[in-house]
Amino acid sequence: MAKLNWGMIGGGEGSQIGPAHRLGALADGHFILAAGALDHRAEVGRDYAMRLGVAPDRAYGDWQEMLAGERNRADRVELVTVATPNSTHFEITKAFLEAGFNVLCEKPMTVTVEEGEEIVRIAARTGKICAVNYCYSAYPMVRQARAMVRAGDIGKVRLVVTNFSHGHHGDAADADNPRVRWRYDPAMAGVSGQFADCGIHALHMACFICDDEVEKLSADFASTVSGRVLEDDAMVNFRMAGGTVGRLWTSSVAIGRQHGFDIQVFGETGGFRWASEQPNQLIYTPVGGRTQIIEKGEGGLYDDAKRLSRVAIAHPEGFPLAVANIYCDLADVIRGTERDGLPSASSGVRSMAAVHTAVASAKAGGAWMDARPPMFR
Ligand code: NAI
Repeated sequence: MAKLNWGMIGGGEGSQIGPAHRLGALADGHFILAAGALDHRAEVGRDYAMRLGVAPDRAYGDWQEMLAGERNRADRVELVTVATPNSTHFEITKAFLEAGFNVLCEKPMTVTVEEGEEIVRIAARTGKICAVNYCYSAYPMVRQARAMVRAGDIGKVRLVVTNFSHGHHGDAADADNPRVRWRYDPAMAGVSGQFADCGIHALHMACFICDDEVEKLSADFASTVSGRVLEDDAMVNFRMAGGTVGRLWTSSVAIGRQHGFDIQVFGETGGFRWASEQPNQLIYTPVGGRTQIIEKGEGGLYDDAKRLSRVAIAHPEGFPLAVANIYCDLADVIRGTERDGLPSASSGVRSMAAVHTAVASAKAGGAWMDARPPMFR
């Protein structure tokens, strides 16, 4: 099967998420890195792209140059990854979709709900893929969890409790580090800091596993590091359309917690827990029964979990392979195979609506508010 040409915007040398995209996209041989505008400094980005093996004429200085250079090539890239800071996602994603490229956009997909709705409409109009990198949803044991909910293995879901709380922005002396600072700067990050950065992964995960959507929410935000404009800690209560009760805590000042992303789902006949730091196990308890560990790679998993398990049981799989699962599904969809579970632009705009609702709710003392984007009300 011919490899697909792939291009990347952002994710330059030393960036946080860039390596995971390269490991993920290249892991299965579906893609080759053919083009890139990898850095906000043109020469630095060009140099790094060439060191990664991109041909000099496709190592671009910025995304506009890349769009102009790629759009009329016979061998143009078939997928563009946008891994730049949040405030740039909308204009880059919009421009590439409108020029007929498939896009994988980092989360949050946009900064405003209106922009998010526009992206959903452009993707529908152009027929191009606009996926959002909610990569945690591609861990095999998360797919197992979703399949168990769908199969009724824990009965109707009553309650979902999720945390994405780490302590890596808790050092006030490091608050001016450029990789930290933009996350709390409204001009770069938008209206929300930690909730838009990490909380939306947890919210997406709750929706993904429960196969449901958030309908309304109530939020409490705090900015605990002196001088920080946007929140670095948030508690969000939510209700899903199907009645499930949701609780979410997200923080970047929880010193001692490392990655800190976990989810517990409690149904009428059982419950389970998944944690990103032990991603290969799903801890399951049927009502009245013993707690069991369901392992990635064991027999009897649901199909999607089986399909996305790469190496034998007990061999650890981790974050880059979850990202690789997103790229595998993208390659399949580009080549014409349907894939259920690829996070779409609709998920992206639902997240943005939740972010803006949480900001408004926190300002209104935690008032309950409709969290759906207008286009899905
Ligand atoms: P970072 O600050 O570590 O790196 C940003 C990179 O983008 C740098 O290489 C920078 O030079 C480049 N860049 C900035 N503006 C650019 C432009 N206009 N054109 C080309 N390159 C540009 O940021 P990080 O942490 O890698 O975050 C990037 C995006 O990825 C954010 O939207 C963030 O929310 C998301 N992210 C997603 C994660 C996930 O689990 N899905 C995890 C971490 C980040």
